Amino acid sequence: MAPWWRDAVFYQVYPRSFADSDGDGVGDLPGVRSRLPYLRSLGVDAVWLSPFYLGPQADGGYDVEDYRAVDPLFGTMADARALIADAHALGLRVIVDLVPNHSSSRHPWFREALASPGSEHRARYLFRPGRDGGPPNDWQSLFGGPAWTRTTDPDGTPGDWYLHLFSPEQPDFDWTYPAVAEEFRSVLRHWLDVGVDGFRVDVAHGLVKAHGLPDHGVPTHLLDLTATPFWDQDGVHDIYRDWRRLLDTYPGDRVAVAEAWGPTLTRTARYVRPDELHQAFNFHYLTCPWDPVALRAVIDDSLDAMSAVGAPATWVLSNHDVVRHATRLAPEADPGTGLRRARAATLLMLALPGSAYLYQGEELGLPEVRDLPPHTRQDPAFARSGGRDGFRDGCRVPLPWEGAEPPYGFSPHGTPTWLPQPSHWGGYAVAAQAGDPTSTLEMYRAALALRGTLRGDLAWLPSAPHVLAFERGTARCAVNLGDRPSTIHTGGVDHVLIASGPVHHDGGHTSVPPDTAVWWRA
Ligand code: NOJ
Ligand code: MG
Repeated sequence: MAPWWRDAVFYQVYPRSFADSDGDGVGDLPGVRSRLPYLRSLGVDAVWLSPFYLGPQADGGYDVEDYRAVDPLFGTMADARALIADAHALGLRVIVDLVPNHSSSRHPWFREALASPGSEHRARYLFRPGRDGGPPNDWQSLFGGPAWTRTTDPDGTPGDWYLHLFSPEQPDFDWTYPAVAEEFRSVLRHWLDVGVDGFRVDVAHGLVKAHGLPDHGVPTHLLDLTATPFWDQDGVHDIYRDWRRLLDTYPGDRVAVAEAWGPTLTRTARYVRPDELHQAFNFHYLTCPWDPVALRAVIDDSLDAMSAVGAPATWVLSNHDVVRHATRLAPEADPGTGLRRARAATLLMLALPGSAYLYQGEELGLPEVRDLPPHTRQDPAFARSGGRDGFRDGCRVPLPWEGAEPPYGFSPHGTPTWLPQPSHWGGYAVAAQAGDPTSTLEMYRAALALRGTLRGDLAWLPSAPHVLAFERGTARCAVNLGDRPSTIHTGGVDHVLIASGPVHHDGGHTSVPPDTAVWWRA
């Protein structure tokens, strides 16, 4: 039997925004634990928890002060253990986020390094002297401004600079220094011993920098897919081979998924060679426009690149760093079309061979929140870019669970949520959608329950140019990406398994409207 993860559906929980148990307006681990039955009934196989470790939350938990401790904001180590135990009892796997590219500037190692210029303590990070009175090279922080911050020596004089590809509160480790690798082996073992089923590896393509830290020459941005001296260096693969050996010493098919923004799918596939990690997020799919030619090409390229190394393809439409797909796929100011496309895109994704990653709230059809007041925003890129960038808060607004007004059951008390929820979200709430067969939530449930009927390799079927249609085993999927209805021979109403919107049956044919997907039995 194939290992569980090869076709698993993972559900990303961003703990601050999922469910709050103690009424402080911030989601927490007991909150997640209390909603595990919801995830079970949704039909996902595994939960990926974004960081809940001790840290100042300068970047929503991607700034870790202690890799083995739970931040009091989220609960305790006992809460983490109880969550994992409950998930396992429900048949859900749990993977946790690992942040190995950088620590928090409050990590004891970094504090030691700052306190002792010229000492070995600095070797765990990337400290360098400046160049011509400025930073050591031209690298830009992904959150805006230079990727270097100058230190002040304990005697008050200006000192060396340190590298931070993200915010100054997130100094990059020097992975050529053996103690760094040793520490992360120990962190991996710690969480594997606690019982997690694996890891999501943050910035997996960034751990090794080009030798000598050469100038890059051009500016970069967060979701950059092009080659740079700090992304996708060959040396990162030695780290993943080492981790794979470690993971394989544990029973139970533990896994690791790389957040690797490779410039091409072939480069991304190098992270999932047989002796490296298990999966890599497919950002080429996430960034693909709603266009039949582009989608077919990225699906083919993904399947080819991953099968060449024996790994399953993966698919993702939303996460905590990008505009929610119900908004991203919408033509300008047309949320109705956005949601229709999002539902069709989801049915397409869930019909593809391999693994899929869902982001909390997409099963409710949540749109991006575009009008958060500036003073509530917490994405560090917002402040660093003077408000021109840093809009990741819009997909991180706390989930609506029930009721007609904020906090929609997110928090037990009336405490305002850490990001304000829109006043019109009552209709998106889980309780409002549950049991309504036309709701997005019930579409996800039905699709996840039916997903197993699509088995084996994908074979494209002949179709009109604006339609994508394929077969997997005895089941078929078609998506209409055009602007007029398309008639598809589905063989009768009882053959249709699910549709993302209203379809019209006429004998053996089904009329599929624009921006609609359908699965049927061949
Ligand atoms: C990728 C994470 O998904 C993002 O949220 C974070 O800001 C950066 N890595 C830095 O850790
Ligand atoms: Mg809380």
